[in-house]
Amino acid sequence: MTSLFTCDASITIDSHLDEAHERGLADDVLDGLTRPFKELPPKHFYDERGCELFDAICELPEYYPTRTERALLQAHAVEIARETGAVELVELGSGSASKTRVLLDAMAADGGPGLTRYIPLDVAESVVRASAEALVTEYPGLLVHGVVGDFERHLSRIPRADGEQRRIVALLGGTIGNFPPGSRRRLLREIGELLGPEDRLLLGTGLVIDTPTLEAAYDDSAGVTAEFNRNVLAVVNRELDADFPLDGFSHIAFFDRQHEWIEMRLRALRPCSVLIGALGLRVEVAAGEEIRTEISAKFTRERVEEDYAAAGLRLDAWYEDADARFALSLAGRVS
Ligand code: SAH
Ligand code: AVI
Repeated sequence: MTSLFTCDASITIDSHLDEAHERGLADDVLDGLTRPFKELPPKHFYDERGCELFDAICELPEYYPTRTERALLQAHAVEIARETGAVELVELGSGSASKTRVLLDAMAADGGPGLTRYIPLDVAESVVRASAEALVTEYPGLLVHGVVGDFERHLSRIPRADGEQRRIVALLGGTIGNFPPGSRRRLLREIGELLGPEDRLLLGTGLVIDTPTLEAAYDDSAGVTAEFNRNVLAVVNRELDADFPLDGFSHIAFFDRQHEWIEMRLRALRPCSVLIGALGLRVEVAAGEEIRTEISAKFTRERVEEDYAAAGLRLDAWYEDADARFALSLAGRVS
């Protein structure tokens, strides 16, 4: 672990990525691009540029999840803060933490439980650092303990709760949908193991809605999602000394009705012979061949409840918007 230097005594940042993360990318590229159906996991979108592009996606008219989840938080954060009595917030895949303020405000408000510590965990160091610096200024007295890490590998590195203090562990934005069903349940189980008896998971899930609205959200008219999608190739080029031609791939997004998930792919516009220098690997991509870069599963309440049950969790509260596009749920660990 590296503890990163910060100027502010309210901020601690631990980094667990370093070379292991580079190995993670190399392993994923080696596994994913030598399969008959090529695939890259979505966590590699998020270098500094990828985080900026994701923030730009959140502002797009077509990308309804962020504003819908924000409105749900605005409507229910006070109740969530009161019901959980949580004074610490752990946020997994925290990104720029823009919606987090709604929850922190409710926890910190007069009559709320109080607010002591925020623990953001993200693979992107830039967002952990930037959100920590902004939040200690906005919330005087708040301690921020950032963790630069992978929530599939580093949950055990999250600092323990101070004494009996209650926590919310939040996974917002629909990020749980970026995992296929088996990994999703495993991740939920591992998150559940972080929870004390009075702690709660706060989970954001996109719901199954009409196909045109879903597909537009992942294929916006300004082309921001297309650039976000192609950014994973820029990451592989830079980190692994590869030569993917970014203009040789088009962005594909479609709703798979059978699995009820959005799939994003990159389709080769012409045959490409790509050298991944750091791996000494040559990858042939045929014209028209597709690389899957993300799934984004959409849920029903029943599916969330089934996933919780399989992960040893119990649904305590469910909040969805009037158009049933997005839901927030609170879950506790089954004792
Ligand atoms: N929670 C925010 C950001 C969602 S974008 C919101 O709701 O708007 C997804 C975030 O998760 C990105 O910041 C990305 O860097 C992070 N992320 C993706 N996979 C991750 C992983 N395996 N471990 C840690 N962070 C991850
Ligand atoms: C982070 N995650 C929940 C986003 C999603 O909607 O699946 C990532 C994203 N991909 C394309 N647009 C946004």
